[in-house]
Amino acid sequence: NNYSEIELFNQKYPIDSCTNITPRITSKLNKQLHNKRGHPLFLTRQRIQNYFYNNFIKSSGNPLFAVFDNISPIVTPYQNFDSLLFPHDHPGRLATDTYYINSKHLLRSHITAHDEELIKMGFNAFLSVGDVFRRDEIDFSHYPAFHQLDGLRLFSEQELFHGIKDPTGLKLFENGNRTNDKQDKHTVDASKLVEFDLKHVLVGITQKLFGKDIKYRWVDCYFPFTHPSWELEIFYENEWMEVLGCGVLEQAIAINAGAGNKVGWAFGIGLDRLAMIQYHIPDIRLLWSEDRRFLDQFNVDNPETKIVYKPISKYMCRQTDISFWITDSFVSSDFYDLVRSVGGDNIERVALIDIYSDVKTARTSHCYTITFQHMERVISVEEVKEIHNHIALLAEQQLGVQIR
Ligand code: PHE
Repeated sequence: NNYSEIELFNQKYPIDSCTNITPRITSKLNKQLHNKRGHPLFLTRQRIQNYFYNNFIKSSGNPLFAVFDNISPIVTPYQNFDSLLFPHDHPGRLATDTYYINSKHLLRSHITAHDEELIKMGFNAFLSVGDVFRRDEIDFSHYPAFHQLDGLRLFSEQELFHGIKDPTGLKLFENGNRTNDKQDKHTVDASKLVEFDLKHVLVGITQKLFGKDIKYRWVDCYFPFTHPSWELEIFYENEWMEVLGCGVLEQAIAINAGAGNKVGWAFGIGLDRLAMIQYHIPDIRLLWSEDRRFLDQFNVDNPETKIVYKPISKYMCRQTDISFWITDSFVSSDFYDLVRSVGGDNIERVALIDIYSDVKTARTSHCYTITFQHMERVISVEEVKEIHNHIALLAEQQLGVQIR
């Protein structure tokens, strides 16, 4: 019957005692905001991706880092946890924290879940971007679906020591002890060089995103899949704020994935909060908005464009249409300027919705929709009428158009 299975991406999953996903969360699965052109999350992801494209190019001229942005968020507990050495009693595995489709499948809680398979496929340097899911309360800064960009890089002995004048005697591996600074199989030299490279790359990204003068600090932390591990924090609006987690990849993961002769680093960045800071978006829920008044503000091709989000009004809007015959020298932007100068803060948007050419008279007519809305109050019908008439009058006088 209908209730014994869930269908996701054309695949049916039997419901069992582990199932805890809800329609509200499955409705987010096809949003793919990180792949949506002109979305703040897409722009943020592009800025980071471009940093890698611009700074890491193979001798062939191709990008060093392969990018994966389309891997299904439905993974196994093995991918999300076991392959990354999560202990069996790690709280992340609990159904209170993770969305289980059933006992065999779940919605990834981090994009790191794909690291083992990508290393197995032979990739030594890659970025993976995607939506991730964690059971969480909903408020202005928490949402159960969000987005991450992970990076991973593996080095052979030759690659890691290649900048060193006399690398004789330098080794990647030893049978040593695990300390706060390194894993048992790594030499101090290898671990330190990987750490140095990792931190150099991540400071580079941070400075690209927030400017050269950004204040930052490294904080020791713990992840099951890296050691040593750090969080990078930046000083933003008088507070230290976590930007990313990273560390030296646990060697057991490289070994399991068939890359045991290499050492590597991994990092993971949360994109939602970065996008919110960059564009001054005050509420994470806005990132899921389908309101054109929100999305249109980010509709740019160049991800380096400086954008400051302008809040959208919660008050009712009113719309009017205006049609007129244009002159040969008419340009739409003159009309947009005129509407704004007459209507001021009452104008939310002006859009050209129709162009009509009359063959007999060889004239062209434009039709625009004007959206009236104020940040602090509802605009009355009378006010709208008055502004609209004033716009029509001035358009005829100043732009030479003829109202229809
Ligand atoms: N997966 C970690 C998280 O979700 C981030 C991370 C990725 C940390 C890779 C270290 C290495 O918080």
